[in-house]
Amino acid sequence: MKQFLHDRLPLDGMMAHLRKPLPKHINLLFSLGSLALFLLLLQAATGAFLAMSYSPSPDHAHNAVTYISEEMPFGSFVRGLHHWGASALVIIVFLHILRVVLYGSYKAPRELTWVVGVLLFLVTLGFGFTGYLLPWDEKAYWATVVGVEIAGTAPVLGEVVAKVLRGGAEVGAVTLSRFYALHTIWLPWLAFGLVGAHLFLVRYYGSSGLPKNTPEEMNTGKPFFPDQVFEDVVGMFILFVVLACAALFAEVPLEKVADPTNANYDPRPEWYFLFLFQLLKYFQGPFEIIGTFIIPTVGMLLLLFLPFLDRSERKVLWKRPIALTVTTVCVVAIVGLTILGATAPKLDSQEEVPPTEEVQQVTSPDTQTPDSEDEEDVFEFNLTEEEIDAAKEVGEEAQ
Ligand code: HEM
Repeated sequence: MKQFLHDRLPLDGMMAHLRKPLPKHINLLFSLGSLALFLLLLQAATGAFLAMSYSPSPDHAHNAVTYISEEMPFGSFVRGLHHWGASALVIIVFLHILRVVLYGSYKAPRELTWVVGVLLFLVTLGFGFTGYLLPWDEKAYWATVVGVEIAGTAPVLGEVVAKVLRGGAEVGAVTLSRFYALHTIWLPWLAFGLVGAHLFLVRYYGSSGLPKNTPEEMNTGKPFFPDQVFEDVVGMFILFVVLACAALFAEVPLEKVADPTNANYDPRPEWYFLFLFQLLKYFQGPFEIIGTFIIPTVGMLLLLFLPFLDRSERKVLWKRPIALTVTTVCVVAIVGLTILGATAPKLDSQEEVPPTEEVQQVTSPDTQTPDSEDEEDVFEFNLTEEEIDAAKEVGEEAQ
């Protein structure tokens, strides 16, 4: 078998490439990228199992998630891994970005590796945003209503983006289908394409090493295979054990089924969007757009183009006072706003208000009747008049 593969594949060349030594002094922080990759694969695997029992319709989604959590064999464990895995992915990617910034690893010639990485970060947040709606409980529904409204405040394209995401005037059945498609088809394709490009670039340029590495030390460290791979696998195992404990012992929240008429619900996004949510509170009325659009967009653009803005070749941190100050301010702001958002008291008016007939008609997700403006978007899912007539005839004949 070994000979068969040897004759057909360039195995010697591949092994020589994998055994190439890394820079000296590579530490545990260089395993964060591999841990992110492991978590992405774990999310794909657990998500595939969840999808086998899930149904993206307002009538069935909440029941399906209840069934997975309470009755399906290992369902609660798999859902727990997926839920806590998502949070772990955001934390690990955040730490990975921080490592890359503090060691100056984004600098030439690794600008493209960085840009692809930022796109991966956006895709990771996209997974979080679209996945949050899928259980179709109160928090999922209302956080999505707010999230899509925020997207709608962007100038020029905002309304179009909000309309495409919702698929109608209200968050409803079509929105759930769209978020499910984004979460399970569009974003995974995008993520794995970007990961492929990211890993290719990482291998192509080789590890940037530590700022203190001299040019002679760049090829005199431990080999990538087996030493670094072994350390990465140990890290993955430890991370899996932590997630498995969380999945076994920490309950994954599931609130009551979404009630689009419960206008008193105080919506909260997932914890990793809390800093944005908290930011909005400081910009009211005509200044709202500063919190909803200007700060997040400028922040993202600065992050995306960081290697082109910081052209200096210095990598040692204490010789980069601006980079150190900006990074510290950003981290303190993000962590501080997240803590403020998490500890902000919830409105106590959570009790249900009996819906008026009018409100029910407009907002019920199952009847998600489009207003005339949104008719086209939603009617993609409806039958034509001929189809309805044909169906009636079949029904009458059957009677
Ligand atoms: C799911 C998301 C991601 C995965 C799976 C991933 C994976 C990896 C891996 C395996 C490495 C090599 C090992 C290491 O240096 O840790 C790496 C390096 C790198 N990553 Fe990522 N990464 C992700 C997100 C990001 C993000 C969000 C950024 C930046 C915003 C980024 C920028 C970089 C850069 C510049 C390197 C080269 C570092 C060096 O050569 O020292 N990555 N990534």
